[in-house]
Amino acid sequence: MDLNLKNKTAFISGSTSGIGYTTAKILLQEGMKVYINGRSQKNLKKSLDQLKKDVKGANVYGIKADFLDQKDVHKIVNKLEEVDVLINNVGIYTSKSFFETGIEIWEDQFYVNIMSGVTLCKHYLKGMINRNWGRIIFISSECSYIVPSDMISYSATKSAIHAVSRGISHMTKGTGVTSNVIVPGSTLSNGAEKFISEKAKSENKSAREIETNFFRNERQNSLLERFATTEEVANTIAYLCSPNSSATNGSVIKVDGGSSGGIF
Ligand SMILES: NC(=O)c1ccc[n+]([C@@H]2O[C@H](COP(=O)([O-])OP(=O)(O)OC[C@H]3O[C@@H](n4cnc5c(N)ncnc54)[C@H](OP(=O)(O)O)[C@@H]3O)[C@@H](O)[C@H]2O)c1
Repeated sequence: MDLNLKNKTAFISGSTSGIGYTTAKILLQEGMKVYINGRSQKNLKKSLDQLKKDVKGANVYGIKADFLDQKDVHKIVNKLEEVDVLINNVGIYTSKSFFETGIEIWEDQFYVNIMSGVTLCKHYLKGMINRNWGRIIFISSECSYIVPSDMISYSATKSAIHAVSRGISHMTKGTGVTSNVIVPGSTLSNGAEKFISEKAKSENKSAREIETNFFRNERQNSLLERFATTEEVANTIAYLCSPNSSATNGSVIKVDGGSSGGIF
């Protein structure tokens, strides 16, 4: 399917690996100009080189910025004046008991998971509205529904971005701009792969056994009963970036294999 995205510009936060990286690859294949982001120049170079190798003629650039540092966020908007598509993908988490989760962890997750998108939207939304076209996508998590007891702070920040996105969508009324949330389930990003292989090693089990037990014990509502690939999530993100998704605004789209349960 042609997503009608040729020559449009996208910025994807936290995209040197995982869901963000795969989304960048799909959008480049669609002929977009894509800006990827991460904290490390080395990772950025590696990802830019790989994308240029994988996608012939890729129009891809990197912006090094750490969303824990507001000064860095301003660097992004100084370097990149306008975008057609903004994907607020960056997200950090910890797996710790509620009692061990200190205020600094809550604050870091608040800044990276919520304020990254808020700050970028404050800059890019006006231009989108003036040009009467734009796409804003927030990447949430199944955890905003499940709220695992070792990830309460992360889950709270992910729930909060649903409110931010819905609020922003109200400001787009009558325009060609949309703001939506994607809810991935457990997805085989580099971080998840590392988690599985370390757990397999420490418990002397195969990666397959670890995955089966995870879905049996911790994601009982999952209908997929496996980790999604980053492509499975990124395909839905790419569709929401497209003009083809014009009637979807203020929405929450789950790509969680059923894991968050319920009917909403
Ligand atoms: N994977 C899952 O199972 C899953 C499930 C549900 C939701 N999600 C959500 O999906 C999004 C993407 O997750 P992922 O698992 O695909 O990510 P990932 O593979 O862990 O990638 C993280 C990316 O974010 C960058 N990053 C981390 N902290 C940053 C910061 N402070 N400032 C700028 N960049 C930063 C990293 O780049 P550098 O290291 O180069 O800085 C890297 O490019 C997140 O919002 C996550 O919460 C993931």
